[in-house]
Amino acid sequence: MASPNIVIFNDTHGWHSRQLVDALARYDIKCTLADLADCTIDLDTPNGLVIPGLNGTLPDGVIVRGIAPGTLEQITLRMDILHTLAELNVPVLNTAKAIEHTVDKARTSLRLHLAGINTPKTWACENNSKARSIAEKQFTQGHTLVLKPLFGCQGKGIEKITTLAEFEQQTPVGDAFYLQQYIEPFIPNQWQDWRLMVIDGQVIAAMSRHSKHWITNFAQGADCLATTINDDMTALAINATRAVDAAYAGVDIIRTQDGDYTVLEVNSVPAWKGLHQATGIDIADQLAQAIVRRITPSNITEHAQH
Ligand SMILES: Nc1ncnc2c1ncn2[C@@H]1O[C@H](COP(=O)(O)OP(=O)(O)O)[C@@H](O)[C@H]1O
Ligand SMILES: [Mg+2]
Repeated sequence: MASPNIVIFNDTHGWHSRQLVDALARYDIKCTLADLADCTIDLDTPNGLVIPGLNGTLPDGVIVRGIAPGTLEQITLRMDILHTLAELNVPVLNTAKAIEHTVDKARTSLRLHLAGINTPKTWACENNSKARSIAEKQFTQGHTLVLKPLFGCQGKGIEKITTLAEFEQQTPVGDAFYLQQYIEPFIPNQWQDWRLMVIDGQVIAAMSRHSKHWITNFAQGADCLATTINDDMTALAINATRAVDAAYAGVDIIRTQDGDYTVLEVNSVPAWKGLHQATGIDIADQLAQAIVRRITPSNITEHAQH
C-alpha cells in the first residue's frame, strides 16, 4: 500500500512547510506542497477538484498553512475547495469552517461571546457615525479602544485610540470598524500576553510574550519565553478553540487588571516559529500526530514508524 499523501497549502512554502514535511516523513507520510490558488474546480473529474501534483486523486489529508490575499471571488473559490475536501471526508486542518470563524476577527468575537468565553468588549460596524458614538461613550467611561483590521494578523495595522480627535484620524481598513476595549497591562508599562497552542483539545505548548510596546506579537519583536500556565488559561484556550470549530489553534490570552484572563483572538492558521524557539516543543510533530490520528487506522498501523 502506498504511503499516505498530505497536501500542505500555502502560497509560499518556507520554514513551516519544511518542518511539516520532515515531521510527516517520520510517520512515512509524503507531502505535496501546493497553493490553493492553483487548484481547479472541474466537474469533468469524479471529485470535481484538481489539485496540482496529485494526478487527479484526492489527498489523504490537508494542512492549510496559508491562504494568499485575493479578491472576494478568488477567496471564495479557495474556500470552495477546502469545504469540498472536508465534504469528501478528507481530513482538513483547519477546515474552511474554522478558518471562516477566525480569519475575520468580528466572527471570532461573536463565537467567543455566544459560547460564554471571556473576551474583551468589542464592537464592529460599517457606519462611521455609529463607530464614533461607540468610541465617544467608551472614552467618556474612561476606556481606551483598540482599532484592528478585520483580517489583521501579526500585530499589523492595530491602533490604540484614547480621544475622539484620534478616532477621527483613523481610516479603518476596508471601511469596517472593529473596536475593542483596551486591556491595561496587569503590571503598568509591562505589556504581556500569552500564546497557547491547542491541538485536539489539549494545550501542547505555551509561551508568554513581553514587550516595551503594547503590541506583543512575535512578529513585532516581543520577547517570547516558555511559561507554565494555570488551569484557567488552559480551559480558556481549549474552549476558545472549540468555539471556533478548530482542530488546532493558536490562542492569544491577556490578563486584565482584575487578574482575570481573557481571549484576544484565535488563530486557525497559526505560525509557530516563535513558540518553537521559546519552548523547544516540536509543534510540527504534534500536528503530524494529529494528521496520523485522522488517517484510516490501517494506514496508521502500516505506516507509523513509532
Ligand atoms: N484589546 C486589547 N487590549 C490590549 N492589548 C491588545 C488588545 N488587542 C490586541 N492587543 C495587543 O496586540 C496584539 C495583537 O492583537 P491580536 O488581536 O492578537 O491581533 P493579530 O491578529 O494582529 O495578532 C496582542 O497580542 C496584544 O499584545
Ligand atoms: Mg494575535
